[in-house]
Amino acid sequence: MTTDAQRIEELEQQIEEMREKIYRMGRLAEMGKLIAVTAHELSQPLLGIKAFAQIIQRKINDDKDVSKKIAIIIQQAKIMENILNGLKDFTRPQSYTPGGIDAQQVAADAVELFSERAKKAKVDISTELSGIPPKVSGNRGQLQQVVVNLLSNAIDALAKNGGGRVRLRIEPKNNGTSLIVADTGDGIDAEIQKHIFEPFFTTKAQGEGTGMGLSICKEIIEYHHGTIRVLESAELHQTFGEKFGMGFIVWMPAVSGKKSDG
Ligand SMILES: Nc1ncnc2c1ncn2[C@@H]1O[C@H](COP(=O)(O)OP(=O)(O)OP(=O)(O)O)[C@@H](O)[C@H]1O
Ligand SMILES: [Mg+2]
Repeated sequence: MTTDAQRIEELEQQIEEMREKIYRMGRLAEMGKLIAVTAHELSQPLLGIKAFAQIIQRKINDDKDVSKKIAIIIQQAKIMENILNGLKDFTRPQSYTPGGIDAQQVAADAVELFSERAKKAKVDISTELSGIPPKVSGNRGQLQQVVVNLLSNAIDALAKNGGGRVRLRIEPKNNGTSLIVADTGDGIDAEIQKHIFEPFFTTKAQGEGTGMGLSICKEIIEYHHGTIRVLESAELHQTFGEKFGMGFIVWMPAVSGKKSDG
């Protein structure tokens, strides 16, 4: 039987949690706005730089040396323009990679990025493919960002234990492809686990984590009509036949599929 006092205490705790959540969501929205406004403001003078460089280039065509240098200014300005456009679009969807994406390739590229850091942290990463997963629908860069974040978290969790193992498993599932990233670290308490997809939630020391990784992953995957969640330890055991501390499953629809990770 719950007493009134207990009920009030529970409600107070729920209110406190909501307050924390709203505060974090607010900060995320503010940050998104600030980035978009800054990117927009920087685009204006950049347009000027590019336009004048192009005018000069047309006028000094006979001086090959100067012309080459101007071409570099224009090229660099275009790179900046692309970065700024990307920032303006940070909270907006990006384009879909034509023809679909091979999740195995995305995983292999992400593993390669971490090869040095994993070696230093004594982390062994293995990738396995079960069946022939279909190509998934989405933006390659954004999907790679998801795998990179999951691997980064797994390595962080293992590094503090002096090393361990990470397994990536890619397989066809429900008219799409699932990707599991599991590690032999300590995992996380059920209470804390409820919050890990929230923006700015971190258990890492200041300067070591911003708490943005998983919330960005969730946003990207949901935009792609996929799902991302933590695997229960029983599911992990069933998948690999051995004990893992923590595991995430990402599911993405096949190029023309619509369903869930089941
Ligand atoms: N593989 C894992 N094992 C244990 N805990 C994890 C794992 N992955 C995530 N977590 C927990 O979830 C929290 C949030 O993760 P998230 O990636 O969002 O932020 P972060 O890693 O702390 O910081 P950032 O990714 O922004 O540098 C982590 O601080 C950690 O407590
Ligand atoms: Mg992280």
